[in-house]
This record gives sequence, structure tokens and C-alpha cells, in this order.
Amino acid sequence: MTKRVAIFISGGGSNMRTLVESMQGDHPARPCVIFSNNPDAAGIGWATSKGLATEVVDHRSFGKDKAAFEGSVDKALAPYNADLFCLAGFMRVLSPAFVDARANQMLNIHPSLLPKYPGLSTHARALDAGDTTAGCSVHIVTPVLDDGPILGQAVVPIETGDTVDSLAARVLTKEHQLYPKVLRRFAGGNRTRFDL
Ligand code: GRF
Repeated sequence: MTKRVAIFISGGGSNMRTLVESMQGDHPARPCVIFSNNPDAAGIGWATSKGLATEVVDHRSFGKDKAAFEGSVDKALAPYNADLFCLAGFMRVLSPAFVDARANQMLNIHPSLLPKYPGLSTHARALDAGDTTAGCSVHIVTPVLDDGPILGQAVVPIETGDTVDSLAARVLTKEHQLYPKVLRRFAGGNRTRFDL
């Protein structure tokens, strides 16, 4: 059975685009909805232009009431019957209850070589530490932020003179290669690790 994938974004959605474009032909999954917490996310416009279903629930309407926000997300997504959930540049931390309700169905891409640098500012932290390599990780989402089992990683060199922007761009190119490969394997039932 073809898996139905909901993709969560907050901004430009370049990872979402590469995932959507990969889900064709004999791919074991298809996108069913693109969701954003940000009404201004550029990726929502792109998804609409491609004829994909989109849903937006603006987290700012709920203040600090995360349970109410997530209740609204649940309701918006329910009609799509997603089997898998791909966080792709989704910048909200989801509650344990929301994550546990989708245990082993939710993937995330994170721009560091986990377990190094969970959370924000990963590239600045790698540069500050004097690291010689950086990269990205796709992992299963668990209630602990950026902590679930790693399904794949891609490494990039840190070069002399790199800035946060130059490093982020180099890592993003690898994200676009890694996430579609890992999703394809995972959707097909292969949960072994795959490094680029
Ligand atoms: C990516 O580096 C992602 O890993 C990080 O934010 C960036 C979002 O890029 N969390 P995009 O929205 O997929 O273009």
C-alpha cells in the first residue's frame, strides 16, 4: 500500500520540495498534505501551485497553549489519514503527546551531525567549536528534541573562511539529497541506517 505522507514546514520549504519531487513512479509514498504553522511560509504557495493539499494552523493564535495548537493541527490533518509525517524545516517543538500519537511514523531532518548540536544555531556552534566537518541527520522523532534513532547522515567539510551562511548552504545541498533517500527507504519498510 502506498504510504500517505504529511510534510510539516515553517519557511521556504526547500526540503519539502525535494521530498515531493522524489515521490513519483514506483516510490512507495505520496504526499497527502503540506502543513505549516506559518501562514507566510513560502513553501505553502509552492505546494498550492503544484495542486497539493495544504493546511495552515498559525501557532501565534494560541499564545502559549500548545495543547490547543496541537489539537487544532490534529483536527486539520485528520481527514488526510497520513501514514508518515516528515518534519522539514518545521520550527516548532511538538509535545510528547503529539509525538507519541505518531510513534515511529514521524521523521525529522536536522542540520547537524547528531548527537552533536541538537536545537538551534547548529552551524554557528560547529564553527565556534573549530569542527572540521558538519552535516545533517534524518532521525525518527521521539519526545526528546532532535534525539531519536538516526536513519541517515551526510557529512560536509568545513572550509577555511566558512561563514554560517556558506556552511548552511553546503549542508542544505546535502539535506536535499539525504532526506528523499531516507524517506524512500523508510516508506518501503527499510529502517536500517543509510549514510550518504
Ligand atoms: C534546513 O536546514 C532544515 O534542516 C532546518 O531549517 C532549514 C529549512 O530549510 N531545520 P527549508 O525550509 O527546507 O528550505
